[in-house]
Amino acid sequence: MTAETELATHPLLTERPAWQALQSHYEKISKRHLRDLFAEDPERGPKMSLEAIGLYLDYSKNRITSETVKLLTQLAEECGLRRRIEAMFTGEKINSTEKRSVLHVALRAPKESSLVVDGVDVVREVHAVQDKMANFSERIRSGAWLGHTGKRIRNVVNTGIGGSDLGPVMAYEALRHYSDRNLTFRFVSNVDDTDFAEAVIDLNPEETLFIVSSKTFTTLETMTNARTAREWLLKGLGGPEEAVAKHFVAVSTNAKEVSKFGIDTANMFEFWDWVGGRYSMDSAIGLSTMIAIGADNFRAMLRGFHEMDEHFRTTPFDRNLPVLLGLLGVWYTDFFGAQTVAVLPYEQYLKRFPAYLQQLTMESNGKHVTLDGRTVNYETGPIYWGEPGTNGQHSFYQLIHQGTRLIPCDFIAFFKTLNPLGDHHDILLANVFAQSEALAFGKTPEQVKSEGTPDWLVPHRVFEGNRPSNTLLAESLTPEVLGKLVALYEHAVFTQGVIWDINSFDQWGVELGKALAQRIIPELESPSEPKLSHDSSTNNLIRQYRSHKASQ
Ligand code: F6P
Repeated sequence: MTAETELATHPLLTERPAWQALQSHYEKISKRHLRDLFAEDPERGPKMSLEAIGLYLDYSKNRITSETVKLLTQLAEECGLRRRIEAMFTGEKINSTEKRSVLHVALRAPKESSLVVDGVDVVREVHAVQDKMANFSERIRSGAWLGHTGKRIRNVVNTGIGGSDLGPVMAYEALRHYSDRNLTFRFVSNVDDTDFAEAVIDLNPEETLFIVSSKTFTTLETMTNARTAREWLLKGLGGPEEAVAKHFVAVSTNAKEVSKFGIDTANMFEFWDWVGGRYSMDSAIGLSTMIAIGADNFRAMLRGFHEMDEHFRTTPFDRNLPVLLGLLGVWYTDFFGAQTVAVLPYEQYLKRFPAYLQQLTMESNGKHVTLDGRTVNYETGPIYWGEPGTNGQHSFYQLIHQGTRLIPCDFIAFFKTLNPLGDHHDILLANVFAQSEALAFGKTPEQVKSEGTPDWLVPHRVFEGNRPSNTLLAESLTPEVLGKLVALYEHAVFTQGVIWDINSFDQWGVELGKALAQRIIPELESPSEPKLSHDSSTNNLIRQYRSHKASQ
């Protein structure tokens, strides 16, 4: 039986025995305090920690017992997680609403492996594109590729949005330490004119390369920016159309549209419909990353991804990092009613990691119907957000510590800094450990009183504690470790999607707004007064805009 044919027969999640066992278990342990759980077992910290493929996860400060882990992994078994993992890795069309395979794992498969889907060895295709990317990146990095006027390229502007932007920006920032500092990188995503204007304000067109990154090559924002980029370039060079060939390359699945835009398909880096936008930073969409850090570092990142893929595919669930992370997310979302998850990297280079995770997690699991179209009667994807530590501590941590909401936190930190400066790193790490300790154990009224605090002030200075967190540690932020981290979250999202019985790989929810915008654009631009037939609010907003535009 394939994963698809099984759909019609399976029970709703809340009818599963393991779910019901978790519900009764929750009633029993939900009020238990982490202080007591730690007091009962002095070895809880090391017991509920695990190290795999160079990542160390301490999940002991979660509101769980060993029974919780047992029941959660049982739920994963009942939901068929093992079979769904195999279905993904072997190219079954698990993206059922788009009838597509989901094969980002093939993007990091080693050269000597093979995966035949619909008669094509996709691994061979992936490596052919990787080699083409490596060749091109080297020509840019070495100065062999020259612009129209004979100058070498010094600026690279990636133009894309969503998965065609967030991955490249995040990876560039995360791996900046390894990047060629003679090159300048900019990322234009928003259709807001300011984004483009500011990105190129100090760039010389003669030395600038645009990478137009778009899976479909039809996305309104990206194509608008790409057209503006072409105008900017040709105006700046005072040059002919042919100049475009030296300053524009494309990353896309759509050769027809690429060539319609005027980019030679010889300068197109291909990927495939089985790579979802938010799972594409390790495909040709990563071209800007490869130019920044070089092909060897890019391949090291792919090795990291692959190591996590293998770990996910082969490790028993109770020692499987992405499975545990995913299941803990289900525990808080569905049983504790947590609405959000905070991702808090104590590593400045990961400053765009929470933004990257927002698309990965929320575009994937922001769904309300099951694979077979039934409306869920449980919560699905939570809201992901975060900022690098310690900045967040002086901003929103107050609410996490003393507010009324339960916000599970993922702390991410590294044993070694890439930029040692005095005792900065000790101070940084002391802060990570202190935050998770404070969240878990808090401060009782007795402790507050014993410090001589006047009675009236005591309630304000009490920390309830019992606020859960994971702490993820790795040696240092290398390309390999970044690959592992991203794959960790990709597979945690997959795990949750399987439990919630939703399709983590489509994104129909972004379509309606896109379609309505297409209808409104001519209404804003029409020289004569358009006949509007929206609701009274939208009609009014359009009229307001038109009258302000007319008076400019
Ligand atoms: O926001 C919807 C979406 O389709 C994302 O999934 C995708 O990453 C983004 O738009 C960009 O799409 P494209 O790469 O086709 O321009």
